[in-house]
Amino acid sequence: MISEKMAKALNEQINKEIYSAYLYVGMAAYAASMALGGISNWFQLQAREELGHASKLMHYLNEQGKDLVLKAIAAPDQKFTSVAGLFDKTLEHEKEVTASIHNLVTLAKKEADYATEIFLQWFVTEQIEEEASVSDIIQKLEIGGKGGNAILVLDKALALRK
Ligand code: FEO
Repeated sequence: MISEKMAKALNEQINKEIYSAYLYVGMAAYAASMALGGISNWFQLQAREELGHASKLMHYLNEQGKDLVLKAIAAPDQKFTSVAGLFDKTLEHEKEVTASIHNLVTLAKKEADYATEIFLQWFVTEQIEEEASVSDIIQKLEIGGKGGNAILVLDKALALRK
C-alpha cells in the first residue's frame, strides 16, 4: 500500500499528463490551421501518448487501492506564433514533466516506497525519449534555417509518425 502523500502526488501527475495532452491538442490545431497536416499528426499522436501516460498512472493507483481524484485541467496558452516555437515550447514543457517525474522518484525513495520507485522507472526512461525526439526536431529545423522549406520537409517527415 502506498502512502496518502504518494497517492496525492500521483494524482497530481495524472493532471499534468492530461494537461500535456490538452497542450498538444492545441498545437495540433495550430499546425492544422496552417495546412501542416504532418506536424498536426505528430502533435495529435503526442496528445494520445500523454493520455496513455495518465492511464498508466491511474491503473497503478487502482492497483495500490487508492482513489483517482480528478481536478480541473488548466487551459493551455494557445498564443503560438511560429512552428519552431511549438517545438521550443514542447521541449520546455517536457523538461518540466521530467522534473516532476524526478520529484516523484525522490518522494518514493524518501518513503522507502520500492514499488512506486520501480513503477516510475518506466516514466524516467520515457522522458529521456520524449526530450530526445523533440530536441531532434528542433535541431533539424535549425539546420534547415527554420524557413518554409525546412518546415515543409519536416511536415512530410512527421506525417509518417504512427
Ligand atoms: Fe507524459 Fe510527454 O510526458
